[in-house]
Amino acid sequence: MRFVVTAGPTREPIDPVRFLSNRSSGKMGYAIAEAAVAAGHDVNLISGPASIPAPSGVKIISIMTSDELHDAVHRAVRDCDVLVMCAAVSDFKPATVERRKMPKRKTPFALELIPTRDILASLPRENRKFFVVGFAAETHELEASAREKLLAKNCDMIVANDVSRSDSGMESDENEVTIFFREAAPKKISRTSKKIIARELVKIISKMSEKCLTKKS
Ligand code: C5P
Repeated sequence: MRFVVTAGPTREPIDPVRFLSNRSSGKMGYAIAEAAVAAGHDVNLISGPASIPAPSGVKIISIMTSDELHDAVHRAVRDCDVLVMCAAVSDFKPATVERRKMPKRKTPFALELIPTRDILASLPRENRKFFVVGFAAETHELEASAREKLLAKNCDMIVANDVSRSDSGMESDENEVTIFFREAAPKKISRTSKKIIARELVKIISKMSEKCLTKKS
C-alpha cells in the first residue's frame, strides 16, 4: 500500500527571524513511517522541522508552514491509499508576516493571530479513495473530544493520546493511545515505546484500510 505520513510541528513566521511553533518532536510520525516501510509499504513522509534522522526507505518531503503542509498533503493524496495525519499543525498564525525583523519594544503589544486552515477537514469527503487516520492530543475529556474530531474531520479512525501526562505524548519516547473507529469498538494500546505503538498502528491501519477500501470499490 502507498502511505502518506505527516509528522512534526509547523512553523508560522512572525518576521524573518521569529516564528510560532509547538513542542512536537516528530517521533511518533517518524516511527509510523519506519514501521510502514518495515511492513513492506511505500511511504512518503511529509515532515515539519524535526531534529531526528529520517527513517531509511522513505521519501521525505520537507515543509515549514501549515500552508505548505496543506498543499503537500493535497498533492500527495492524489496517489495514496492511506493518509496518516500525525503532524502537530499550528492552529493559528500571525495575520501578517513582517518583512523586516521587528524592533525590540519597551511596552506590551499584541500580535494579531488568525486561524490556519484545517487540513483534514479540507480533504474530499465523498468517494474518497484513501483511508484517513487523524490524531488527537487531549488534556481532558479524551474520548468525547476524539469522537467529535473523528466525525468533524471525517477521519476513518483517530488515535487519541493524553498530553497532560509528562511521561507520554509530545517529546517523549513513549506514548499510550486509544484508537477510535467509526463502527468498531475502541482499542487501547497501553504505555509503551512509540516504535512498538507504531508497529501496532500500522497493523491496524493496514487491516482496517483494506476492509474500508474494498467496501468502497
Ligand atoms: O483539532 P486538533 O488539532 O486536535 O486535531 C488534530 C488532528 O487534526 C491531527 O491529525 C492534525 O494533524 C490535524 N490537523 C489538521 N489541520 C490543522 C490542525 C490539525 O489537519 N490545521
